[in-house]
Amino acid sequence: MTKDKLWGGRFTQPTDKFVEEFTASIDFDKRLYHQDIRGSIAHARMLGKQGIIPMEDVEEIIHGLQEILRQIESGHFDFSVALEDIHMNIESRLSAKIGEAGKRLHTGRSRNDQVALDIRLYLRDEIVEIAAYIEMLVDALLFQAEENLGVIMPGYTHLQTAQPILFAHHMLAYVEMFRRDAGRLEDCLKRVNVLPLGAGALAGTTFPIDREHVAELLEFPQVTRNSLDSVSDRDFALEFMSASSILMMHLSRFSEELILWSTSEFRFIDLSDGFCTGSSIMPQKKNPDVPELVRGKTGRVYGNLMALLTVMKSLPLAYNKDMQEDKEPLFDTIDTVKGSLKIFAEMIREMRVNGDTMRAAAAKGFSTATDVADYLVRKGMAFRDAHEVVGKSVAYCIAQGRDLPELTLQEWQVFSDRIGEDIYDCITLEASVNARAATGGTALERVKEEIERAKSGR
Ligand code: ARG
Repeated sequence: MTKDKLWGGRFTQPTDKFVEEFTASIDFDKRLYHQDIRGSIAHARMLGKQGIIPMEDVEEIIHGLQEILRQIESGHFDFSVALEDIHMNIESRLSAKIGEAGKRLHTGRSRNDQVALDIRLYLRDEIVEIAAYIEMLVDALLFQAEENLGVIMPGYTHLQTAQPILFAHHMLAYVEMFRRDAGRLEDCLKRVNVLPLGAGALAGTTFPIDREHVAELLEFPQVTRNSLDSVSDRDFALEFMSASSILMMHLSRFSEELILWSTSEFRFIDLSDGFCTGSSIMPQKKNPDVPELVRGKTGRVYGNLMALLTVMKSLPLAYNKDMQEDKEPLFDTIDTVKGSLKIFAEMIREMRVNGDTMRAAAAKGFSTATDVADYLVRKGMAFRDAHEVVGKSVAYCIAQGRDLPELTLQEWQVFSDRIGEDIYDCITLEASVNARAATGGTALERVKEEIERAKSGR
């Protein structure tokens, strides 16, 4: 038994079967097979170039690894729990296949720097893919913004009607949020994209390796500068999971709005049937399952971040077996974020916007009260006094069961003699929206500009 293990030399008794299962990571780290093989090929080439192993061995190793890659991809590779992880599964198969040369591959390398390399290679590709999904979602948001450019909806604070805004302006708020998410991922990618191989187990290696050459082969712009840190650092995964948590928080807030907007009380939007399900008992139901589930999945992404932060907390340098617990939360975060973005991009593109309902809601709730106050300021009144005057007119309307635009000029003038006929031009929904014309405001002209800016990726 023990002599089957790559590390069996100093052991005299076989590993307990359950200990073997308990300590193995092959069930989840086999998804790193491609990165593991790619890394090993680069390592072997470098060993050959440096004269550390013979060039003929390098050729054999590369051919052997390429064959293993084909076997894995065609489903003809038997992963063994006894071989613990993807690194030893591949290496031991290589030696079984090509003998001596295969046994030379691990020269000047340790699983500790190897696993760090594999995760970095894996994560950097996933980040690029996630960024592309973010762009898909941004495209869908811009599509809805343009399709519904003139639609006015109530803007809320405290979920109480505040001021009228363009629906497109609301979509653009999410564009800002998701573009920041993309920026955080891009920034994190700089620290993911550093080659840790060459750190050995923890202290470096006695062989005359050329790390810069490996970095070039694997397209890493930089190499790590400290061997201890190289094998004990998982900051890059934590950064990715933090950025993912914020991204999921954004998706969750958006989900919440979509759920609210699809209620029969709001009816601002209709999600397409393909993204909803029915109830087994209530025939009238159409449930917004997708946004609900994305809102729910936010919890596991936060949980994954907490899990890895807690794994890393208090770990002495350098590698500790605890760190094998990095992979499941990381992989789960990647899968969850990708799935959520993909489904959201499609759902948003297909969402139907009920512009008339939004407009009717925007007209309620005295949403143009601030516009009356601003009008009085332009007529020379101090803002605090204007606020008081409009407050009183709102109270009057509530008592009368009427709305601000319904007041006659005589009624207005009871509140202030500064109010003239031109008040009516200020309190239409369009006037209210278009008056907010400074950069970042909801005025149609500004929103059009921001759509253009967002489209050009600025
Ligand atoms: N399966 C291990 C992990 O995922 C690989 C590194 C193990 N190194 C070691 N010395 N046990 O972390």
